[in-house]
Amino acid sequence: MEFIKVKTYEELSQKAAQIILTQLEKKPNSVLGLATGSTPIGTYDELIKAYTDGKADFSKVRSVNLDEYCGVPETNDQSYRYFMNEHLFDKVNIDKANTNVPSGVAEDSQAECERYDKLIESLGGIDLQILGIGVNGHIGFNEPSDEFSEGTHVVTLDERTRNSNARFFEKMSDVPTKAITMGIGTIMSAEKILLLANGDAKKEIIEKAVYGEITPNVPASILQKHDNLTVIFSEN
Ligand code: PGA
Repeated sequence: MEFIKVKTYEELSQKAAQIILTQLEKKPNSVLGLATGSTPIGTYDELIKAYTDGKADFSKVRSVNLDEYCGVPETNDQSYRYFMNEHLFDKVNIDKANTNVPSGVAEDSQAECERYDKLIESLGGIDLQILGIGVNGHIGFNEPSDEFSEGTHVVTLDERTRNSNARFFEKMSDVPTKAITMGIGTIMSAEKILLLANGDAKKEIIEKAVYGEITPNVPASILQKHDNLTVIFSEN
């Protein structure tokens, strides 16, 4: 594991973007595992800047996102598909047909989970997975639990997660209670993982995840077992 500590969110974003751009230089048709949330926004901004400056090409990139809220259609501005379009896909030359986010409104959610796992398999797995971390140690929406999950599944969101994400919704009752998420097993099978966290609110959990006991009660702690993990933490 490589643990990079930096002072500012700008440095975190620049370093993270550099790792992604290096990956794309090495393999232009990389499968990127992408994350939503506030943490990677600066990284995506850096990628957009690189593209605008003619220094990045996303035309062959394939992507799979970690998760989506259940019951939130992609036209809703709180959906993670909407987030990805707005923060990255609409601003670079990625082919939207090559971008994937699980559907939160599939009639048969079990079938959707199976479809998503098969899709990731058919792409040959994930080359580089970007992760944020929840204050409760979740990755994707894999909440603290008694066991580490394997494939894509539907989860009931932890109250701490709902409270953290309430800032994006008008009222608490609008915050979804369920989500569909890629499993820990799939995340762990990515070739390389980049875990990002910033600010005081994440300091304790990132140290617990990286140096603490490996337990499903802190889902991110499993990442200690990955042999190509980079963690970037910024104080601000
Ligand atoms: P955040 O969310 O980047 O908005 O802090 C991270 C997460 O919950 O995984």
